[in-house]
Amino acid sequence: MQKKISYTKIGIEDLEFIENLQEEHINEINNIWTRRDLNDHINKKTSFSRISKHGKKIVGFSISLYSENFMDVFLIFVAPKFRRRGIAQNFLKDIKKFCKLRLINKIVLEVNEDNQAANILYQKFGFKIVGKRKDYYFMNEKKSDAIIMELNL
Ligand SMILES: CC(C)(COP(=O)(O)OP(=O)(O)OC[C@H]1O[C@@H](n2cnc3c(N)ncnc32)[C@H](O)[C@@H]1OP(=O)(O)O)[C@@H](O)C(=O)NCCC(=O)NCCS
Repeated sequence: MQKKISYTKIGIEDLEFIENLQEEHINEINNIWTRRDLNDHINKKTSFSRISKHGKKIVGFSISLYSENFMDVFLIFVAPKFRRRGIAQNFLKDIKKFCKLRLINKIVLEVNEDNQAANILYQKFGFKIVGKRKDYYFMNEKKSDAIIMELNL
């Protein structure tokens, strides 16, 4: 039987794996969150960060931070073999649910203009483009703009 995907908070025991997962896919990530960065992050009261697991194996994670007024999504990553199964969409649904409970009325994020998968994902979820940061990213030897997106709840 196919194992189900489960979703939980990122724990201290997950940090090494998350760092390694990013290193394996360095060409897809603008900035690696090291164990130390992740540890600092999850210890913040306003962190909203989750992992998805297939059985016991971590296959994705999301890192976000909230304030009274908005939720900032820093990174959503899904392991290549587990893509197109709705995992990223489920992370977004969880974020949205949490925001609604806390009366946070906006989700914001930045995405590389060249990242087609993420651009489609976010726009399909209802995010609107509100701005652009010229030449914000330098990835794989190439400069590209950051698209700033918002979802009003
Ligand atoms: C972007 C990313 C997070 C998407 O994760 P995912 O779990 O595969 O996404 P989902 O399965 O939830 O996709 C939801 C919808 O987004 C769109 N989408 C996702 N990946 C797509 C792709 N490669 N091409 C076109 N559309 C895509 C589709 O509309 C999809 O729905 P469908 O499968 O029913 O057609 C994943 O590709 C990834 O980890 N990329 C590397 C890291 C990254 O770029 N993160 C985003 C920047 S913060």
